[in-house]
Amino acid sequence: NDIGVVAVGFSGGQCKPGVDAAPMALIEAGLITQLKTELEFNVHHDDTVHSYAEHIPPVAEDPDHRNMKRPRAVSAVTQQLANQVYEHASAGRFVLTLGGDHSIAIGTVAGVAKATRERLGREIALIWVDAHADINTPESSDSGNIHGMPVAFLTGLAKEERKDVFGWLEKDMLVSKSKLVYIGLRDVDRGEKKILREHGIRAFSMHDIDRHGIGKIMDMALGWIGTDTPIHLSFDVDALDPMWAPSTGTPVRGGLTLREGDFIAECVHATGSLVALDLVEVNPSLEIEGASETVRAGCSIVRCALGDTLL
Ligand code: ARG
Ligand code: MN
Ligand code: MN
Ligand code: MN
Repeated sequence: NDIGVVAVGFSGGQCKPGVDAAPMALIEAGLITQLKTELEFNVHHDDTVHSYAEHIPPVAEDPDHRNMKRPRAVSAVTQQLANQVYEHASAGRFVLTLGGDHSIAIGTVAGVAKATRERLGREIALIWVDAHADINTPESSDSGNIHGMPVAFLTGLAKEERKDVFGWLEKDMLVSKSKLVYIGLRDVDRGEKKILREHGIRAFSMHDIDRHGIGKIMDMALGWIGTDTPIHLSFDVDALDPMWAPSTGTPVRGGLTLREGDFIAECVHATGSLVALDLVEVNPSLEIEGASETVRAGCSIVRCALGDTLL
């Protein structure tokens, strides 16, 4: 029952400060303590929130590239993170990453995908729970924010030669488009819709959840992946309705309830195949009132994904 926890205080994949404070807020809310005492995990954590500051080039030396903002900073941080996550996963540990904005998933998924190929000879499946698809290419993105692009880089839809701008991503760090499943989408850009359609990517929107109910959706999502495939769950807290998680950079109304979020995590845990979890986009500085609520919602999702049950 070994778990590696990586705390990543990074906000460079988007423009609002504060999301870097999330790991500390989640830890201060008792998350790691709960993993140790209530869920009886053997936690491997270096007790630091990583900013990877020593690897981040100054803003002046990090101009936009192919429309991407802070390309070298995000690349350097995610490359470091990929190595750190790879070490945990290679040692057979579950990897829990506390973000940070969603650009950090470039690092976590890359590290887990590579380690899982080497250790088990298996490809991973990626479940992306989010209001957004985060599958913009640098060219399709309107904002230039890299937190809207991680899935494009991880599936190889976006590629870059420059080693200091994600050129370090190797083939064995990528995920198949057929092993990617979205849940909770409701704010997908036009270019992204085209990408999802053209590549036949499996996606369950809020409309699908309204129509079938979350129970049926989880059966379909997990059925698509199939049993016995190692799963990486990347959970953007903005998948939840702002009523439950208001403190996030890009809130979108009409989202999941608190219970639906926890239920998704519980179902993924129940497969027995979950190998890694990211919790991202909690920004405690955005809403004074909603910050602690958002942090609590995040902690709950993590506990559910790690096997906490109601009874
Ligand atoms: N689609 C928008 C963009 O590309 C929003 C992305 C929001 N992503 C997130 N991880 N919250 O800029
Ligand atoms: Mn999102
Ligand atoms: Mn939009
Ligand atoms: Mn996201």
